[in-house]
Amino acid sequence: MPVIRFVREGRDVECYPGENLREVALREGIELYGLKGKLGNCGGCGQCITCFVDVEGAADAALTPPTPVEVQKLRRRPESWRLACQALVQQSLTVVTRPQVGLADRDAMLAEALSRPLPAGPTAWPTPVEPEPDETEEAVEAPGDSAASAPTTTSGEANA
Ligand code: FES
Repeated sequence: MPVIRFVREGRDVECYPGENLREVALREGIELYGLKGKLGNCGGCGQCITCFVDVEGAADAALTPPTPVEVQKLRRRPESWRLACQALVQQSLTVVTRPQVGLADRDAMLAEALSRPLPAGPTAWPTPVEPEPDETEEAVEAPGDSAASAPTTTSGEANA
């Protein structure tokens, strides 16, 4: 699965192929917006032009091609800038969020981030743990009585 390396935040984040870059960033608590975008943004419709990211050094196929609205909105911006809300992640890439906001040592940080190979990421997405039906019933029956509501387990974790 693709890994997005967020340079400003110093984080590598895994996502599904085809996920929207803005949605991945928001899910992971990555700040995409400068002051203007924090005060108000279009919610991902490609209209407010506040979700800029710089994908300098990324392979052409790392993101889906720019949408027509993106081409029009970014016509006076650097070629490596994209609107996160318009880009779907196809391959691992390195991203500088809020490129319009100064970043000390930006060039050195980007060069360092690009010099390290992007990890392939875990091969399996974490799966939610489904509660045992008996555990759910006991928790509902006796919420205030911890002795009565302790789930019966064979691992001994409940009494640890
Ligand atoms: S969120 Fe408004 S253009 Fe991307």
